[in-house]
Amino acid sequence: MVQIMSKPSILVARAIFPEVLQSLSQVFEVESNQADEVWSASELTRRMQGKVGALTTGSDRIDAALLQANPQLKIVANMAVGYNNFDLPAMTAAGVVASNTPDVLTETTADFGFALLMATARRVTESEHYLRAGLWTKWSYDMFAGAEVHGSTIGILGMGRIGQGIARRAAHGFGMHVIYHNRSRLSAEMEADCKARYVSKAELLNTADHVMLVMPYSAESHHTIGAAELAQMKPTATLVNIARGGIVDDAALALALREKRIAAAGLDVFEDEPKVHPDLLTVPNVVLTPHIASSSIPTRLAMANLAADNLISFFTKGKSLTPLNTIAQ
Ligand code: GLV
Repeated sequence: MVQIMSKPSILVARAIFPEVLQSLSQVFEVESNQADEVWSASELTRRMQGKVGALTTGSDRIDAALLQANPQLKIVANMAVGYNNFDLPAMTAAGVVASNTPDVLTETTADFGFALLMATARRVTESEHYLRAGLWTKWSYDMFAGAEVHGSTIGILGMGRIGQGIARRAAHGFGMHVIYHNRSRLSAEMEADCKARYVSKAELLNTADHVMLVMPYSAESHHTIGAAELAQMKPTATLVNIARGGIVDDAALALALREKRIAAAGLDVFEDEPKVHPDLLTVPNVVLTPHIASSSIPTRLAMANLAADNLISFFTKGKSLTPLNTIAQ
């Protein structure tokens, strides 16, 4: 007698590449949000009913209430390296595997950190707005004169894989002096590879010409950069955040930019995104992008594939590929 096994049911909470959805459909019964509607927490909880797995993005919160309403859930694969949308202790307590997408986005995200740094220091978007507004009538000696990038000092807060990618670009490509601060110090070999010198947070803020934020968001990293830290930075310094909203106090930053207490900032992430603090929208010396640091087509495809492969591997081989927690099987 042929036994017909039904496919496990999963939820794909946001729109993803159709070809990735196609691979998932070979293994799973898939409910997907290809219309890319913004689901509320209660809608996400409702859609999760009966699903044993889910593919989420950073905007989908997996918390104790959702887990309690969905005791059948076994794994949630995040299509992001950051996972502050997961209540990881609650997932572990509920026996739900959590996975993310490390490594595949490291270099692309580091590239974008550099793009924001260059645009911020060299006033690329501010000068483009000026030109588009028809205000450019003559060359002048100090027009949009910005800060130097090559040969300057970059201070990297958070020195994981992406931080190291930024450091290598800075040291080897731009001849910059690299200083960093992190919860743990890199090995001597890694420091040599990145040409990076470990310093205290205070020294980093005091001496860096460009401060780059690349640490994960957690309760401890909330408002790592607030009014007090901005006051420690040089008035000529720039700040770039490609990490997470909430690491910077956006209201304090907008004020510091308006009062020229630092020269400029480049932000890819925001405290209440996709809402942006209204004061940031009115200061000229800030470059604003909508959380796109990992967004090259090959990298976003690799992230979607890795998230999908985490689900496929879990259900076909009993093990996800890049788990964030350990669940007794
Ligand atoms: C993007 O922000 C990510 O965490 O992958």
